Amino acid sequence: MGGRRGRPLVIDCDPGHDDAVALLLAVGSPEVDLRAVTTTFGNCSVEDATRNALQVLTLAGVLDVPVAKGAAGSLDGGSTLGNYVHGVSGLDGPPMPEPAFEVESVGAVELLRRVIESSDEPVTVAATGPITNVARLLLDFPEVKSGIREVIFMGGSTERGNHTPTAEFNTYADPEALDVVLRSGLTVRMVGLNLTHQALATPAVVDRMAGMNHVVGQTCAAWMGFFGASYNRVWEFAAPPVHDPCTIAALIDPAVIDWREAFVAVELGGSWTRGTTVVDLHHRYAEQRPNTQVAMTLDADRYWNLVIDAVDRVGRRA
Ligand code: BDR
Ligand code: CA
Repeated sequence: MGGRRGRPLVIDCDPGHDDAVALLLAVGSPEVDLRAVTTTFGNCSVEDATRNALQVLTLAGVLDVPVAKGAAGSLDGGSTLGNYVHGVSGLDGPPMPEPAFEVESVGAVELLRRVIESSDEPVTVAATGPITNVARLLLDFPEVKSGIREVIFMGGSTERGNHTPTAEFNTYADPEALDVVLRSGLTVRMVGLNLTHQALATPAVVDRMAGMNHVVGQTCAAWMGFFGASYNRVWEFAAPPVHDPCTIAALIDPAVIDWREAFVAVELGGSWTRGTTVVDLHHRYAEQRPNTQVAMTLDADRYWNLVIDAVDRVGRRA
């Protein structure tokens, strides 16, 4: 990058195997400048997610990105967990190093506020878990909006769900939080299951990870093994969809995803559909203005080249 720094970025996440790959993609890509990692409940408890984030960054040899612990549950006090996919620790599979640095003494919302307010240019917020921390930030400190370039989140779908028949896990886990973000007036991009199910870690992809001559690549391959077994057991997928790095890939290479502008809402009630995203791709709600850029098509080869190259860069320098 010849001394130029990438776009300022914070990642709010619940690692989680695919969140972990998203972190590696970010720290291995000069197009983005990761300024903070904040954690949330989701794939596991927030305590486990925080330890996992510290361990992933330690594995990557990145000890100078602050990590802060966030929400233990949703805005309405619930706590839906995804250990049935990611294992007891939230990141089961290969052994991980002990964290080589400590969590921040301030919480996630305060760290996000500080990073955004001290940045010389607007900060991109990528959310790859339940979006509770981001909603709490916008509710408690609405003045930070002018310092946010956009919110790009993994969640929802233009189609069906995974946690329930219609709701994706992250949006099911805190629909009220997503509602706050969708109504915020910020630039919002949604990367839902309709997109991430195009990001399959096929055996050829996993072989490329396993073939790297370093522990970072081999750890990624082993994560895919655990994650893939869960996806096969729960949803009968032949290869796991690696959802969360799609958000980061979109920031690194705009050509990796095609988008459509649409009105998006999230179901807060519903006898069976709570947490479902309603994506009005065909303008059926004529009175509703589009509020979201919706990810539609992934260039999967381009995506995996970005991920593999970043993981290899991280592993060679760690
Ligand atoms: C989302 O839920 C979690 O299992 C993944 O980390 C991803 O963020 C997919 O529905
Ligand atoms: Ca996640």
